[in-house]
Amino acid sequence: MTKLTIVAFDGTRHDLDVQNGSTVMENAVRNSVPGIEAECGGACACATCHVYVDEAWSAAVGAPEAMEEDMLDFAYDVKPTSRLSCQIKMSDAFDGLVVHVPERQA
Ligand code: FES
Repeated sequence: MTKLTIVAFDGTRHDLDVQNGSTVMENAVRNSVPGIEAECGGACACATCHVYVDEAWSAAVGAPEAMEEDMLDFAYDVKPTSRLSCQIKMSDAFDGLVVHVPERQA
């Protein structure tokens, strides 16, 4: 099991044990973390699963690929650490990952 922490906009921490290969979005939805809508179900086609990767993890997680970057144009209050959570797949390398939910989705 890999650890994932999703911090809701109100500051509530959701500390989760997740399966490698699952996405951050899938784990947020499965655990009813507020603020992740994921309208397209993970197809990188809605930008309503927007999160901010914690600064400490930003370099490790890396930048979005072109398609995700295009979708992020539709997200609310995009920052340099913005990613679409359906495009972040958990693995041993991301054990302890922390992401933050924005104030609202697009
Ligand atoms: S769930 Fe739609 S872009 Fe991530």
